[in-house]
Amino acid sequence: MDMKQELEVRTREIETIIKAYLPKEEGYQKTVLQAMNYSILAGGKRLRPMLMIETYRLFGGKSRVIEPFAAAIEMIHTYSLVHDDLPAMDNDEYRRGKKTTHAVYGEAMGILAGDALLNYAYETAALAFDMEPEHARIGKAFQVLAKKAGVYGMVGGQTADVESEGEREISKDKLNFIYRLKTGALLEASMAIGAILADAPDREREIVEQAALEAGLAFQIQDDILDVTSSLEVLGKPIGSDSKNQKTTYLTLEGMERAREDVRRLFQNAVEKIEALPGKNPFLPELLRYLIHREK
Ligand code: IPE
Ligand code: IPE
Ligand code: MG
Ligand code: MG
Ligand code: MG
Repeated sequence: MDMKQELEVRTREIETIIKAYLPKEEGYQKTVLQAMNYSILAGGKRLRPMLMIETYRLFGGKSRVIEPFAAAIEMIHTYSLVHDDLPAMDNDEYRRGKKTTHAVYGEAMGILAGDALLNYAYETAALAFDMEPEHARIGKAFQVLAKKAGVYGMVGGQTADVESEGEREISKDKLNFIYRLKTGALLEASMAIGAILADAPDREREIVEQAALEAGLAFQIQDDILDVTSSLEVLGKPIGSDSKNQKTTYLTLEGMERAREDVRRLFQNAVEKIEALPGKNPFLPELLRYLIHREK
């Protein structure tokens, strides 16, 4: 499989879906609309919509009802980045190879653009109810989206993350909690929603969720590694952000060698779970394998 090409095709497909749902930049609230579109169109790997759509395909999903959810998860993810970069949080100046939203539009607009993207995500996902009013699982997918973004998901993880800044000795258990929530939760939501909308049996959806959880942990550990080993040019965001903010990371706790090993092991576990499912979509395990060696 030519991963580079396969990824390009899918990324383009996802960008088309996202653009179709973005708001027009008009009216007295034009500035916040521009800031929203700026942050979401700046680029990014589009990993969460990709995982969602590919999981949907794994279970034989064929309808366009997945599209508003795919756009919505990227809106929520983008909002989490806009707020994560704010001066009160990680205080970073670059994201996706461009100036961060608050650096371009000011802090107030950064906050509002994040709020607006979060809310617009639900406005967008809710369009699925109109597309297929008889489809009972849309409500379930909506619940998962809301929960995994919130205080029992990404926001909960970010809370423990910022509160742990400067703490020298955070437990492995707390670090796991942080990674499972701040990063794992949106990956779980992505794959779970793909499975739910394709009417996957509950048992198989649970396996997918476990795989997503492992992939989420591995993804965040790799993010920590890249924060030390990469560069602004390659990564599109500043390196050294974690040490600047005195974060305890997987690296500071376990060291580089163990971190790399765990990235590989966790992704490999996720791949095995996906490959053991009855449905077949060879791209999905390939994507998870590819992430072991990602450079950005
Ligand atoms: C960055 O996510 C934030 C983390 C959860 C580590 P991505 O690495 O998926 O960022 P984009 O979407 O490609 O910019
Ligand atoms: C953030 O983790 C995860 C989010 C929910 C945004 P990081 O703070 O390490 O993400 P980056 O490195 O800024 O993308
Ligand atoms: Mg952060
Ligand atoms: Mg950050
Ligand atoms: Mg990071």
